Amino acid sequence: MSRKPIIAANWKMNVTPSEAVTYLDTFLSTFSQPVNVDIVIGASFVTLPKAAELIGPNPAVDLAAQNMSHEANGAFTGETSAAMLNDVGVDYVILGHSERRSLYGEDDAVINKKVHATLAAGMKPILCIGESLEEREGGQLESVLTSQLEGSLAGISADQMADIVIAYEPVWAIGTGVTASKEQAQETQAFVRSVLEKIFGSDVAGATRIQYGGSVKPGNAEELINQPDIDGFLVGGAALDPNSFAEIVGAGIGG
Ligand code: PGA
Repeated sequence: MSRKPIIAANWKMNVTPSEAVTYLDTFLSTFSQPVNVDIVIGASFVTLPKAAELIGPNPAVDLAAQNMSHEANGAFTGETSAAMLNDVGVDYVILGHSERRSLYGEDDAVINKKVHATLAAGMKPILCIGESLEEREGGQLESVLTSQLEGSLAGISADQMADIVIAYEPVWAIGTGVTASKEQAQETQAFVRSVLEKIFGSDVAGATRIQYGGSVKPGNAEELINQPDIDGFLVGGAALDPNSFAEIVGAGIGG
């Protein structure tokens, strides 16, 4: 089954609104026409409105938030709702990133609520999963990924899966410069797809896009995207430079 690659920049807590202007001037001039890859820019809450304004008419590039509250509104100081993101023109929401899980205590139950709230608001979750090095070395890789998928996707229907992207990001590869080998990434992503098949059936599993994330850079993007179960990337550090991110997207277009 052919799946359109989706390559997303995760700027994390980088790129101010003013810096986004410089970045997107460069990046959007390279991608002003639709391409055979869905391109996504994941900006901080305060940078989203400026990024939305700049991306506005661009047919190739969509916008992602990096987190969201599962609550609709009310007394939740410091939180940001689905309606707020919608109002700004956000298309995707990155959910359950390992930094949210490990630094801010998000578990699968809360991530599951966020997945439901994102879909209910007409936006698309990019759901992150991934194991730590201890878990991989301790033989828990499969059980960790299975319970993250089952927990985060509880109550999600097969139809709703059409709007969900999975990002497999081994925690030991995030921001470390250590990338999973193409064989490791392929093998693990095939396993992730097999779990989706058990939960949702083979049609959904075959259609779901699974990104790889963790030290993706221009030098390794091509060999990774050529793996049959790698359908794109979630890119942190190497997406902070518009030319480097453009090269990674270029590998997807050529792949
Ligand atoms: P990295 O981050 O590309 O800097 O490893 C990826 C991510 O955390 O999404």
